[in-house]
Amino acid sequence: MSSTPSYPRRVKLVEVGPRDGLQNEKQPVPAAVKVELVHRLQAAGLTEIEVTSFVSPKWVPQMADNAEVMAGIQRQPGVRYSVLTPNVQGYQAAALSQPDEIVVFGAASEAFSQKNINCSIEESIQRFRPVVQAAVAAGIAVRGAISCAVGCPYEGDIAPERVEMVARLMRGIGVQHVGVADTIGVGTPRKVQRALQAALTHYTLDQVSGHFHDTYGMALANTLASLELGIWNFDTSVAGLGGCPYAKGATGNVASEDVVYLLQGMGIETGIDLDALIDAGKFISDFLGRKPHSRAANALLTKRLG
Ligand code: HMG
Ligand code: MG
Repeated sequence: MSSTPSYPRRVKLVEVGPRDGLQNEKQPVPAAVKVELVHRLQAAGLTEIEVTSFVSPKWVPQMADNAEVMAGIQRQPGVRYSVLTPNVQGYQAAALSQPDEIVVFGAASEAFSQKNINCSIEESIQRFRPVVQAAVAAGIAVRGAISCAVGCPYEGDIAPERVEMVARLMRGIGVQHVGVADTIGVGTPRKVQRALQAALTHYTLDQVSGHFHDTYGMALANTLASLELGIWNFDTSVAGLGGCPYAKGATGNVASEDVVYLLQGMGIETGIDLDALIDAGKFISDFLGRKPHSRAANALLTKRLG
C-alpha cells in the first residue's frame, strides 16, 4: 500500500527578489525602485524580505546603494528585513541600517568560495566568526547560506558530506539557521533531499531552508521534495528574478508566484496575497522591460485580460 506524504501546514517564504534578484541585473536599478518593490512585497504579505547586501561595490555594483535602500523602507511591524554581510566591514556598515537579520554566505565548493568571496571555505568561516558574534550580541538574527549544495559551476557534483561539513562549521560559530542553496539549479529531488538531510544533521527542521535557482526547471519539484522532508522555509524571488554574478550560467530563483500558487493549491498556508504578489512582480518586470519569469504570474495576468 502506498502512503501519501504529509506536508507542512504552513510555509514561510523569504522573498529574496530585491537582493538575489536585482544583484544580477546589469542595468542600474534606482534605489527608489528597489524601495517601491520592497513596499509592494510587504503589502502582498511577505514577512521576510532580503533587501540588499553589504558587499564590495566593486564586486557587485548593483548593491552599492544598500544603505540608501534600507533607509528608504517604511518598515512594517511583523516584517523582518535581512541583508547579506560577507565580512566585518560589511557587518559594520549593515549594522547602521539596523537589519533584523544578517546572512553570511559560504559554499560547499572550494572553487565557488574563491570565485564568490575570494577565500577558502575555512577562511570564510574565520571571517564569519566575528560577524556572527557581533550580530548575536546586538540581538540580530543570523542565517547562513550554503551555496553550491548540490552542484558547482567549477567543480561539478557536490557530495552531501560537503554540505554536512559546512553546516557543522556554521553551527560551530553560532549561525542560527542555514539555507541549502542550489546556486546553479542543477539539483533534482533526491539530490536536494540528500543535501537537506546533510544540513539537518546539525540543524532542526525549523532551522533549515531551501534556496533553489530554477536554471533547469527543477526548482518547484525540489521545493515539493523539500516539503516531503518537512522543510517549511524557502527563499523565493518575485518574478523569478535572480542569479549570482559569480556563478556562471545560473539563472533566477524559483518564482515566488509559482511557489505560492503551488502551496495555495495544496492548501498550505503562506499568508500571501497572490494577486498583490503578481502586481509586485509585474511592477519590477515592467521596469526591467520584460515579462515576469513566472508561469503562474503570466497565466494569471493573461486571465485577468479576460
Ligand atoms: P576582497 O577583495 O578579498 O576584500 O573581497 P578585501 O577585504 O581584500 O578588500 C578589498 C577592497 O574591498 C577594499 O577596498 C575594501 O574596503 C573593500 P579598496 O581598499 O580596494 O578600495 N571591501 C568592502 N567594501 C564594501 N563592503 C564590504 C567590503 N569588504 C571589502 N563588505 C569580498 C572579498 C567578500 C568583499 C568580495 O569578494 C565580495 O564583495 N563578494 C561578494 C560577492 C557577492 O555579493 N556575490 C553574490 C551574493 S552570494 C549569492 O548570491 C548566493 C546566494 O544567493 C545563495 C546561492 O544561491 O547560492 C546567497
Ligand atoms: Mg541565490
